[in-house]
Amino acid sequence: MRKFLYLLFFFSPTILFSAGEYRCGLMECDNFEANVSDKASLQRGLSTYMNYCYGCHSLKYSRYKRVAEDLLIPLEMYEDNLIFNGSKIGELMEISLSKDDAINWLGAYPPDLTLEARLRRPDWIYTYLRNYYPDSTRPYGVNNKVYQNVNMPHVLEDMQNSLSVAEYDQVIYDLTNFMTYVADPSAEQRKRIGTYVLLFLVIFTSFAYMTYREFKKDLK
Ligand code: HEC
Repeated sequence: MRKFLYLLFFFSPTILFSAGEYRCGLMECDNFEANVSDKASLQRGLSTYMNYCYGCHSLKYSRYKRVAEDLLIPLEMYEDNLIFNGSKIGELMEISLSKDDAINWLGAYPPDLTLEARLRRPDWIYTYLRNYYPDSTRPYGVNNKVYQNVNMPHVLEDMQNSLSVAEYDQVIYDLTNFMTYVADPSAEQRKRIGTYVLLFLVIFTSFAYMTYREFKKDLK
């Protein structure tokens, strides 16, 4: 019995995770595979974010400079084209919208989105931004299938209307890809270093084993 309880305890996270089937509000999540080594996609996503989201949602756990360097954007070009509020390149990506104003104007405070891709999941964000629909009972005339009665207007509505479905999906793919990167900016580097570490361990182990065999010979 005790053994069984130990086992149950050990595997409980697996059991919990597999039991809770993940859903996106009223629908299944659409498939989304991030590719954070696609720098061109991340650059396009950043540009959409700065132009359409940053007015309301800060990214206050990251710095402009880090993002520019990771995305291979020259600092001067970044400063001239992607910083609109007079901040310096070394600063945190904060916004000046105050909580009271936001609640007065929008009915809710737009949360910081630095860690959103970890808090929700990238496929949740991807599905969310593609599933606004007209609803005349809501203040902005729109509602969302993933986040029912959300207090965020459909800020990309004009863009969505002017693009084909595939083009709009691509814009949201890039935006979500960028948000996935920003939630875990060293993921790519970590994976690369991880490969070297494993390689080193394999090589080191084989040398250690050869040494062991040499010593063992003398012991006989
Ligand atoms: C006019 C201000 C405004 C703009 C611009 C805006 N949002 Fe929002 N957003 C909000 C508000 C307000 C909420 C909170 C909604 C609620 O709680 O009902 C929100 C919520 C969200 C959420 C859900 C947060 C959660 O609860 O997990 C995501 C994701 C999001 N926004 C992404 C975006 C993205 C991406 C963009 C740019 C395309 C964007 N927003 C542009 C106001 C805005």
